[in-house]
This record gives sequence, structure tokens and C-alpha cells, in this order.
Amino acid sequence: MSLLRRKSLDTVTVHEAGRQLIPTLSWPHLIALGIGAIVGTGIYTLIGVGANLAGPAVLISFAIAGAVCACAALSYAELSTMMPAAGSAYTYSYTALGEVVAWVVGWSLILEYSLVVSTVAVGWSGYAVGFLHGFGIDLPLMLTAGPHVEGGFINLPAVLITFLVAGMLMAGTKESATLNAVLVVIKIIALTVFVAIALPHFDTGHMEPFMPFGFVKSLGADGVERGVMAAAAIIFFAFYGFDAISTAAEETKKPERDLAIGIIGSMVGCTIIYVLVALAAVGAMSYTIFGQSAEPLALILRELGSPGAAKWIGAAAVIALPTVLLAFLYGQSRIFFVMSRDGLLPRGLSKVSARTGTPVATTLFTAVLVAALAGVARLDEIAALANAGTLAAFTAVGLCLVVLRKREPNRVRKFRTPLAYVVGPLAMIGCVYLFFSLPSTTQLYFLGWNVLGLIAYFAYGRRNAVLGKR
Ligand code: ALA
Repeated sequence: MSLLRRKSLDTVTVHEAGRQLIPTLSWPHLIALGIGAIVGTGIYTLIGVGANLAGPAVLISFAIAGAVCACAALSYAELSTMMPAAGSAYTYSYTALGEVVAWVVGWSLILEYSLVVSTVAVGWSGYAVGFLHGFGIDLPLMLTAGPHVEGGFINLPAVLITFLVAGMLMAGTKESATLNAVLVVIKIIALTVFVAIALPHFDTGHMEPFMPFGFVKSLGADGVERGVMAAAAIIFFAFYGFDAISTAAEETKKPERDLAIGIIGSMVGCTIIYVLVALAAVGAMSYTIFGQSAEPLALILRELGSPGAAKWIGAAAVIALPTVLLAFLYGQSRIFFVMSRDGLLPRGLSKVSARTGTPVATTLFTAVLVAALAGVARLDEIAALANAGTLAAFTAVGLCLVVLRKREPNRVRKFRTPLAYVVGPLAMIGCVYLFFSLPSTTQLYFLGWNVLGLIAYFAYGRRNAVLGKR
């Protein structure tokens, strides 16, 4: 049936002239791109939201979200070395599961990447406004918050940072990746300083009661859905980003080696940092206090009598959070690029600039959309919706791993996922469980987004698909 028409694994990395990306990256760039994309608003800000939903048991939420992401990361590593083509989960789904599934995955990835950019831009804006306040510069509320806040109109810093990062990307991938590596180091040093100061203040009294809201998601009297799983579904935001590496596959010099090192290396590195930060945070202060803060790590340091370090971690967030924007904006423009190259989205989106070798028009188009959203949207809602899109894509990736093991058992795999028939299904089950642990309204929004997507597919994509014309 043509709805399930698939791309051939043999041709998935062959593209017409003028629509190819230039390979300039190697594994240190990819690890930096990975950590740059992973460590961001999740650990700097959502750790407080998570603690508020689960209590000290947010430690378990971190473990669950990390374990699910690890299974997805292992699946990505095998698939990205089999198919070093831009487009990641979308491209894998196109070859393994057929066009209509690929469309849903691509459409979900658009949601993921754009909402992450918007979320982190809004989070960055909060830190930037606080940072400027420290120097006596106060911007009017009308220009620093969206209309959902009383007196707010547009979040201008969030809009500006999005365009700044987009400009860097349009100047060329490699330069941006190198600068990204420097910023990644700043971000990691800040978290290390946090752990070094907070961990010695560990007090077991802060761990009681350990699980005040139970394990599974349940609705509280105040209308908020809480529990360890509800927190895990939000904390999940902190762990992903390694998938942005796989969108750089076409631009990687030795994809068969570098992609696996990049994905697994950045994932393992981040998990170690997170566990230490989470342990230090819940041990140093009652979650009821830092769970209310928009800058929980800085608050903890201030309360522990280290105001200088608190300022430093704030400054590091302002300087380094744009690496997350960089990675996701990069990934987003590549998803648009690949879907348009396949004819599912308008072809104009897959033109590569002759001067820089990057898809300039696509990057600009993406930046305009996500900046508009960042200017007006609510942080917690867009973070949850970004997670929904990501969970859909990760579920598909777990399925692709298993399907291709069955269908193409003899194809060369430069990286073989250990225990693939356990890891793939675990990734799928874990992602589905996390999806249903998200707020119920988020699930509805996600459904609405995909209904819109399917209308677009049947109205445009299906008729214009390059695969259908061959
Ligand atoms: N993992 C990324 C962050 O926490 C999306 O900002």
C-alpha cells in the first residue's frame, strides 16, 4: 500500500547535486554538540519543577528518564551508523516503517525541535533578565514576558537570542560547532562548582518524606498531576539532545565510528553529571523551597552562603544555554531540509547556500517560527509538549531498531546495539509510559498537532513526495 511506501536502505544516503551537505565534523565536535544540546534548561530549571512534582523521589524520576533515554540512545547509535543521512528518526522511519509513519515522526520532530528552542530561549531570557538586574538594569515587564503574564506583551530577549543563534548557524556549521565546544566547557564547570559546594551540605533530613506524592501520576486537589512518573515525564526534557547528533550524520567525516562515540559518550557524560547535581540539590535543601524557584541551582547556592558562586552559575547559564538553542535550531532546520528534499514539504526549504554549504533559507524560516513562539508562549507548557514530540520519535526509533534487525539481518552495522530485542522494546514501552505520564492537556495538544499534520500530509506531502514520483 502506497501509504507505507518505504525508502530503500541502499539509496538513503544518495542525494542529487546541490542538495547535499558538506562533511566537516568529527567525534569531538559531535560529543560537544551532544552535551551542548543535552545540558540546558532541564537541569538548570526543570529540576525544581520535577522536585515539586515528586519530592526527593525526583532522584528516581531522573533514573527512570535516564534509563529510557539510554535505551533510545543505543537504538539511535545503531541506526545512525547504518544510515548516516540527515533526518534521524524521520529517515529511519521512512526506510523501516513507511512514509505515513515517517511523516508523523517528522511532524513530531518539528514539534520537539521548535518547542525546545522556544522553551530554552524563554528560560535563557529569565536568566538574562535576572543577570542584568544584578547590574541595576531593569527591562520593562512588557518586553520581557508574553501576554500570559499580567502586564507582559512580548518576550523580546527570547526572540533576540533565537535570531542571534540562527545567524551563527547560517554562517557555517563548523565554526558554530567549535564555539559550541567552548561554551559546553563553561556549562560543565558551573555544574561541577554547584556539586562541589552543595554536596558537602547533604542532610538526610531533607529526604523525608521521600515520596510524598506516590509513584504513578495522580491528580491533586489543586488540579495538578503529580507523582514520580509525572516528574519523570518532565525531567525527560533534561536528557534528550543526543538525537541532535544524528541529524548531523551527513555532515560527519567518519559517521560509522564518530556517531556511536558521539551519541553514547555525550549521553553517559550527562547522566553522571545529572545524578550528582540532583543528589546535591535534594540533599542540600528542602525541595519545598527550591522547587518554587525559577533559578533553583542559584537559589541553593545563595542559601548555602555562596552568593558569588550563585552569580557565577547564573552567568554561566546566560553564556552557555545558547548551546542548546544552537543544537536544536541546527537539528530543526535539518528536519525541514530533509522532509523538503523528499518532497513532503515545499522544495524551496532544501536549497543549500553555495557560499556556506548550509541551508540558509531553511534556518531563517525555522528561526522566524520559533522566535515568534518564544515571544509569547508559557515555559512549562511548551516544555511538556516538546517532550511529547520527542517521546513519539523515540518510540519509533525503538521500533525501527527491531524491524530492521528482522528485515535486514545481514546488513553491515558499524555499531550493534547490545541486546537489541530487549533495548528496542524497552525504549518503546518506556516512552509510551512517559507519554501517558505527561499532563492530560499536553496529550490532547499533541493529538491536535498530529491531526493537523496528517491533513497537511494528505493535502500536500503525499502528492508531492519524491518517492511517489519515482
Ligand atoms: N536537554 C535539553 C535541556 O535540558 C533540551 O535544555
